[in-house]
Amino acid sequence: MALSIIRHPLAQHYLTHLRDETTKPALFRTLARKLTTLLTLEACRSLRTAMLRISTPIEELWSPVLDADLVVVPVLRAGLGMLDAVVDLFPDVSVGYIGLERDEVTAEASAYYHKLPSLQGRTVLLIDPMLATGGSACKATATLRAGGAARVVIVCIVAAPEGVRRVESLHPEVAIYTAALDRGLDDRKFIVPGLGDFGDRLYGTN
Ligand code: PRP
Ligand code: URA
Repeated sequence: MALSIIRHPLAQHYLTHLRDETTKPALFRTLARKLTTLLTLEACRSLRTAMLRISTPIEELWSPVLDADLVVVPVLRAGLGMLDAVVDLFPDVSVGYIGLERDEVTAEASAYYHKLPSLQGRTVLLIDPMLATGGSACKATATLRAGGAARVVIVCIVAAPEGVRRVESLHPEVAIYTAALDRGLDDRKFIVPGLGDFGDRLYGTN
């Protein structure tokens, strides 16, 4: 499995302000969107292209255009904070949804919803900001693989070593792109130092 940590100074600047507990929901949403744009650009470096014959005002040439059958799947609820950035980059992308919720006591993720397009042979960007125990990411990946996805790429904002190891052991073929690999998990299975509950901060709930 490949883990890529995006250390671009602008990505790290956005992340610092996402982590800051004084950042309010409006700014939090803006930062999440901007950071996701940077992460997605990296995650899509190896997307397939095809050569198109075009004419500039000067002469004809073969030039690359995207030839990737891309699907993006946010994990509800927090993954929705990353969706607009991906749709802005790829306006015709197919969008599917997976609803997962961690139990507050056991931190076990359980599924409550999914609505997915045909995944057969397609590349799926799985977007979920927090990779903590990895339970949610592994459940979502298993659903996508069962649906026929050829390739799953996880894009998250903060990852914990525990979650990365879990994905690596259950889905070694999956690549992970993140802005940070944090120290670990606390006794409530929250990422340390992390940024708290992403969904609550995004939507102003708690
Ligand atoms: C958060 C987050 C991930 C999950 C990560 O969702 O968005 O989906 O926790 O934790 P894990 O790696 O230990 O599974 P949460 O269950 O809090 O739901 P929400 O998005 O509805 O707030
Ligand atoms: N979900 C979050 O929103 N934050 C964490 O630190 C862990 C899971």
